[in-house]
Amino acid sequence: MTKASSASEVLLHANKVTKNFGGLTAVNEVSVNLSKGQIHAVIGPNGAGKSTLANLLSGDLPPTSGYVSLNGQDITGWTPEKISRHGLGRSYQKTNIFRSFSVWDNVRLSAQSRSQPVPFNPLAWLTQANHMNDVNARAERAIELAGLENRRHAMAGAASHGEQRQLEIAMTLATEPQVLLLDEPLAGMGQAEAESMVQLLLRLKASHAMMLVEHDMDAVFALADQLTVMVNGQVIASGLPAAVRADASVQAAYLGEDH
Ligand SMILES: Nc1ncnc2c1ncn2[C@@H]1O[C@H](COP(=O)(O)OP(=O)(O)OP(=O)(O)O)[C@@H](O)[C@H]1O
Ligand SMILES: [Mg+2]
Repeated sequence: MTKASSASEVLLHANKVTKNFGGLTAVNEVSVNLSKGQIHAVIGPNGAGKSTLANLLSGDLPPTSGYVSLNGQDITGWTPEKISRHGLGRSYQKTNIFRSFSVWDNVRLSAQSRSQPVPFNPLAWLTQANHMNDVNARAERAIELAGLENRRHAMAGAASHGEQRQLEIAMTLATEPQVLLLDEPLAGMGQAEAESMVQLLLRLKASHAMMLVEHDMDAVFALADQLTVMVNGQVIASGLPAAVRADASVQAAYLGEDH
């Protein structure tokens, strides 16, 4: 019996989520579980519906039908901000940073976006100072976790592509999520950058439940505990990576002869 079969560890559960865009069903009754300490990779050809699925889980798009629960609570229809406060962090397929700000400022802004506004009180200066310490500590933890401690003063726009993708992970971590949705974190990376991102994701795995959308198959098979294959909005196979890899329909539809 694998860890994944233990229902108590499931932090995020999507149940038959569907998304229609006019006549197109981009995501068709897809169910996934994300469990703490596990990476659930979602693969599939361009246009399969992977990013749309991530959008349904993060609240960026409401599902046409189906529901999503996070920590046992139904979050279907919640705003992305509310879902983020409830413990879900996501990064996007396209790099999404403030290029003219430093690495540190990007992460700090993200840490601050998560914190509650300080309510008025006569000792506001004290509360404010504690609040700032808390935000800074969260940003610092995220920078270190993402391996960017030596690059904090660099301007984000001047950082290498690999560092910018690390920065996005740091910005996501600054909100202290329990569940991470990462949409192609290795996109556009060279071999060395990809290997260092794989190491980073392995470090994050123990303390998070993670969905990883990724085209890099070496990374997927190095990282995934669970693997779901989508084609045309539908799940064609899901389970342990070795079993999914051996599935004839997966090989025919997606992995091809290389795998
Ligand atoms: N906001 C939208 N409005 C209309 N159609 C959309 C929208 N977003 C996505 N689609 C369509 O839904 C389908 C799935 O797109 P999606 O971006 O989820 O695919 P993907 O698996 O992430 O692909 P890729 O690997 O290229 O990133 C595509 O046909 C896409 O054109
Ligand atoms: Mg996508």
